[in-house]
Amino acid sequence: MVEVKSTGVHDENRQGEAYAPQVMEGREYRKKFYIESYGCAMNFSDSEIVASILNDNGYGATGNYAEADLVLLNTCSIREKAEQTVRNRLQLFRQVKDSRPGLLIGVLGCMAERLKGKLLEEEKLVDMVVGPDAYRTLPGLIEEAETGQKAVNVLLSRDETYADISPVRLDSNGVSAFVSIMRGCNNMCAFCVVPFTRGRERSRDADSIVRECADLFSKGYREVTLLGQNVDSYYWMDEAADKAVTFALLLEKVALVHPDLRVRFSTSHPKDITDEVLYTMARYENICKYIHLPVQSGSTRILQLMNRTYTREWYMAKVDRILSVMPDCGMSTDVITGFCTETEEEHQDTLSMMEYAKYDMSYMFFYSERPGTLAARRYSDDVPEDVKKRRLDEVVKLQGRLSLESNKKDLGKEFRVLIEGDSKKSAEDWRGRNSQNKVVVFPKAGGHYKKGDYVQVSITDCTQATLIGAVVNN
Ligand code: SAH
Ligand code: SF4
Ligand code: F3S
Repeated sequence: MVEVKSTGVHDENRQGEAYAPQVMEGREYRKKFYIESYGCAMNFSDSEIVASILNDNGYGATGNYAEADLVLLNTCSIREKAEQTVRNRLQLFRQVKDSRPGLLIGVLGCMAERLKGKLLEEEKLVDMVVGPDAYRTLPGLIEEAETGQKAVNVLLSRDETYADISPVRLDSNGVSAFVSIMRGCNNMCAFCVVPFTRGRERSRDADSIVRECADLFSKGYREVTLLGQNVDSYYWMDEAADKAVTFALLLEKVALVHPDLRVRFSTSHPKDITDEVLYTMARYENICKYIHLPVQSGSTRILQLMNRTYTREWYMAKVDRILSVMPDCGMSTDVITGFCTETEEEHQDTLSMMEYAKYDMSYMFFYSERPGTLAARRYSDDVPEDVKKRRLDEVVKLQGRLSLESNKKDLGKEFRVLIEGDSKKSAEDWRGRNSQNKVVVFPKAGGHYKKGDYVQVSITDCTQATLIGAVVNN
């Protein structure tokens, strides 16, 4: 069985999926680069920063690696499988390089940070290894690699946020964009490699975030997703105003850019999401009523081992609180099955937690031990793989039912939907999302709408993954 990345109604988590950018028009470039991104939205967003740095240094993007002078893989270490995917991909580029020895190959992102110089020994064809805080040094590293040396920079920084760099939007639908608001993570969830690959948490200058969002709106974008590993601990001191900008305040500032600019965010750690954030969400129609609130496990003992710092009851109370402030709020989660010492009963606790929260959608994984993490050092990875996978199957099945139930509740309702493009199945239908982040599909016929328009859609049918409806004529 394959590791399950997502099910239910959403597909914006592109973990493990590669993508190639469109070719940039209108500028002359000496050389061409090709980039693939793996992992979380942060990595996809970082690739847009890398593209900007490379553009400024004479490299234009190509979606075809056969014509590239430089191939970059922006990598993920979150689970073993994510790293294996990248290693397999490198095998392919080995063949390309055999026929074109001048081709430079660089590994960026979390795997570069985790493995550092070791990656050059393990993967002989790699010319450059560049960690997530070192992208400004890429031009120099490329020059070094061009002279035949191996180039490495994996220094982590306490203050790098790339705040002044305008990302070059890659593979964009022209409607929704990621905006990075912070980097790194100060939590130490026992299973997680991110604090090691991304370093200390730091927040980006609030003004530069608001400027970027306003600029996106002026270019036709209608939705921004504010990104960070733990957005609720965003904190920026506005020296000029002598005022601290919390995440709630930042949300408000971005919401005020324009009422037609939707604001989303990801990811919230349950321990940090405040009432102030919930009230701000409730106050602004354009802040989407949707929270991704990773639970990981429904068992207090396992949560403690995971170092998540909340209990089952505390998390349940948070769910209640969210729904009391915003009864129509959509919710999704992340679940890990088979963490160290997890019993059958504790697994049942996870299933009952999912029933309790009635998640619209989940990202579900079985536990994958990562070297260097707290769990790898302290606990034994003692749940057999077949048990982990069977438990994952149960979690996936349950989520399928919950997603369908959640969608059925929307039958007969009307939603304001932002059109993102053609439906994946048919160019006769539009595809968009409602505030709760559910995908809504409806026929184009009879309306004169375009990507980026808001339309009122009445829901007539659904599947587990999609709401189906028709535009309401008013
Ligand atoms: N910062 C985010 C999550 C980042 S990683 C947060 O705190 O919610 C995304 C998800 O990958 C995690 O929520 C977790 O469910 C999963 N994950 C992380 N490490 C894992 C591991 N070692 N094995 C399996 N799943 C893991
Ligand atoms: Fe990892 Fe926990 Fe930080 Fe999320 S909050 S990135 S799971 S350490
Ligand atoms: Fe992967 Fe790094 Fe993101 S490990 S999930 S790419 S922060």
